[in-house]
Amino acid sequence: MARTITVFDTTLRDGEQAPGYSMNLEQKVRFARQLELLKVDVIEAGFAIASPGDFESVRAISRVIENSTVASLSRALPKDIDRAWEAVKEAKRPRIHTFIATSALHLQYKLKMSEQRALEQAVDMVKYARNLAPEVEFSAEDATRSDKDYLCTVVEKVIDMGATIINLPDTVGYTTPDEFGSFISYVMNNVPNIDKAQISVHCHNDLGLAVANTLAGLEAGASQVECTIGGIGERAGNAAVEEVVMALRTRSDLYDMTYNLDTTQLYNTSRLLSNITTVPIAPNKAVIGANAFAHESGIHQHGMLANSRTYEIMTPESIGLKKTTMVLGKHSGQHAFNHRMQELGYTLDASLSAKLFADFKNIADKKKEITDRDLIALMESGTQAGPQIYELDNFVVNSGNLMTATACVTLKRNGKKFQAVEMATGPVYACFKAVEKIIKHSYVLEDYQLRAVTEHRDALGEVLVKISDNNGNYRGRGVSTDVIEASLLSLLSAVNRMVENRESAADESIAGSKVKDWITLPEDALMRDMKVTGTVKEDVSKGGSDE
Ligand code: KIV
Ligand code: ZN
Repeated sequence: MARTITVFDTTLRDGEQAPGYSMNLEQKVRFARQLELLKVDVIEAGFAIASPGDFESVRAISRVIENSTVASLSRALPKDIDRAWEAVKEAKRPRIHTFIATSALHLQYKLKMSEQRALEQAVDMVKYARNLAPEVEFSAEDATRSDKDYLCTVVEKVIDMGATIINLPDTVGYTTPDEFGSFISYVMNNVPNIDKAQISVHCHNDLGLAVANTLAGLEAGASQVECTIGGIGERAGNAAVEEVVMALRTRSDLYDMTYNLDTTQLYNTSRLLSNITTVPIAPNKAVIGANAFAHESGIHQHGMLANSRTYEIMTPESIGLKKTTMVLGKHSGQHAFNHRMQELGYTLDASLSAKLFADFKNIADKKKEITDRDLIALMESGTQAGPQIYELDNFVVNSGNLMTATACVTLKRNGKKFQAVEMATGPVYACFKAVEKIIKHSYVLEDYQLRAVTEHRDALGEVLVKISDNNGNYRGRGVSTDVIEASLLSLLSAVNRMVENRESAADESIAGSKVKDWITLPEDALMRDMKVTGTVKEDVSKGGSDE
């Protein structure tokens, strides 16, 4: 009889810890709801003690999730466990996930603790957690580099204390499939009470073996997999949910295992993650990358036409990618637009639908056919626009290889127009300087990525930017048939987040009578890092002042 595998998703904890993937509370709740649609069995919602923000997110997720178990990570310490329990106790199915390292290396250098002391702490803390929560998972951090017999003793004792899920992580991605399979078998054969617990595997990808190791762990008898969407996670990441599950599905001839996960939600879930974090999915990413179902070479196309199984081992539909013959264009109405968006997995409320339809019409005027990838890019930039503080009114650039680029940018804020002219070594740079001048605040451009959404000549350009100031990092995404406009839209969505953050910090300081330095700084000081070559016109619509 096929074994049912538990899918434990840690995108919101191990994944979110990775640089560039942090999310705010609203984004985490949105993503957790999608994980529930995906039907993962367990959502590790965060590490409650890590920060007040993490705590609030775990608690908010616990309150809204109906079907999946919600877990919070905690070190094997009473204060961590208390905080984890406080955060998950309102969940329909709460779980405390507590861990301590078991390898000699971690015990000696990180915890400065003897094996005996770590064993006692693990046992005491599982007992403590079990007095609070109905379900306790125990992880032996760095399990694969731990002494096997010591590890087996720890596992046996924590099971005695009521841990019903035992996670054996390959914390640093060191093991190999054969070795990991034997390791899981060893634990299963040498822990007398192992039948009272479920074995879980949690593999990191430092050697690119996370998925292979996870599958080897399952074959050896593990029945829970800890994975992340897109394989995001610490360093090189974790095993990717979509790869593990699609391997089980595609090679069901090898793996006699089932799962509750709905694979047709995999594509939408990974798009949502990319949308929220603004980190693009690599085109060659297994299962969910843009090229995963694209067939470029003539030989492959020929084979595909004769029988799609020649080059396709799984169907696009199985991950939720719907093929369509319907092409949208400038004559398409709101109904057709909404219908296609729905087919792509997006449910739009009236105001978002109206906004995106207006963006769609705008683009359809310039571009003959609007593909699904265009629609997804529109959706992603539209839902990510963030606060609408400054809006792009118009811009003009002059550029060429015989001249210095100039940009004249006009932005609107509260109905008032602001214009600046700047010169720079390139047109995007000139635009960015003009925006900086209008907002009167310097920022550093940390990252700028431009890509074509589709391969055609009239493709939409999509720009992702990351900027920073003293208060933090801000990301933006913009889409247009004009790459300069896409750059400006992307910059503005990041700038608006920065301005919002700065202004709300100012409001708080003023409320507390602590006026921050930058509020009292003269304009010149704010502009000190900028080589000002142009002019700022305020309220140009009313013929406002100019210097
Ligand atoms: O990689 C790891 O060991 C972990 C544990 C804390 C579960 O993430
Ligand atoms: Zn991990």
